[in-house]
Amino acid sequence: MSTALVDPDAVSEVEEHDDTGVQSFLVTFIIRRFDPEVDAEPRWVDYDVELFSTDRVLDALHKIKWEVDGSLTFRRSCAHGICGSDAMRINGRNRLACKTLIKDLDISQPIYVEAIKGLPLEKDLVVDMEPFFASYREVQPFLISGSAPEPGKERVQTIKDRAVFDDTTKCILCAACTSSCPVFWTDGQYFGPAAIVNAHRFIFDSRDDAGDMRLDILNDKEGVWRCRTTFNCTEACPRGIEVTKAIAEVKQAVLRGGA
Ligand code: SF4
Ligand code: FES
Repeated sequence: MSTALVDPDAVSEVEEHDDTGVQSFLVTFIIRRFDPEVDAEPRWVDYDVELFSTDRVLDALHKIKWEVDGSLTFRRSCAHGICGSDAMRINGRNRLACKTLIKDLDISQPIYVEAIKGLPLEKDLVVDMEPFFASYREVQPFLISGSAPEPGKERVQTIKDRAVFDDTTKCILCAACTSSCPVFWTDGQYFGPAAIVNAHRFIFDSRDDAGDMRLDILNDKEGVWRCRTTFNCTEACPRGIEVTKAIAEVKQAVLRGGA
């Protein structure tokens, strides 16, 4: 990861903000654009954007879209790291644009922004997420229980049992992990880290009765054994989920024949 660098001497222009006295910087973004109606191939386009160190890459994209070129296309919704819709490659690394502060990037150099890899490119920074969600749906990521709870009661669970899958409950389905996985890039059939993370969340839930069925699904040739433990997924996850560890736990459960 780049180190924090807002060095006024290193950037091309520094301006003083009239009202607050807070410095702004001219930052160059190089964005990989693609319009399927016009372009045969994606092309890189430069934009100079005036930003503050507290701005995020998402703010820069908004400025470009609202002030320079309204055709720039990207997804975002919550703008606060919750909805998972603005995963993109920023300086070659998968991140959420809304969680990437300008002050954490080296703005003495242009900042490169492109769509995540391994999924069909639709337009600019937008990819077709359907293959990603198809794998997610296949692992049946919801509670399946063979018995109803007692009338008027919740399905109780100990704190210790809940802790077993706590990490994987944090997934926001941003696809940063799956689209950083070299196996997924070369084999679009691989379930990918995010589907396995969401299977883990239910396989290890003491209230769920369908763990064996999910383990069977993931024991498939396109399942957990495709993982080559490169840790790209863990490094990419904006929620800090130990993705590689979760995949390893599912592998162990497959070998044991149950969670
Ligand atoms: S595991 Fe992390 S990187 Fe992967 S989809 Fe979930 S939140 Fe995104
Ligand atoms: S816009 Fe929702 S996570 Fe970034």
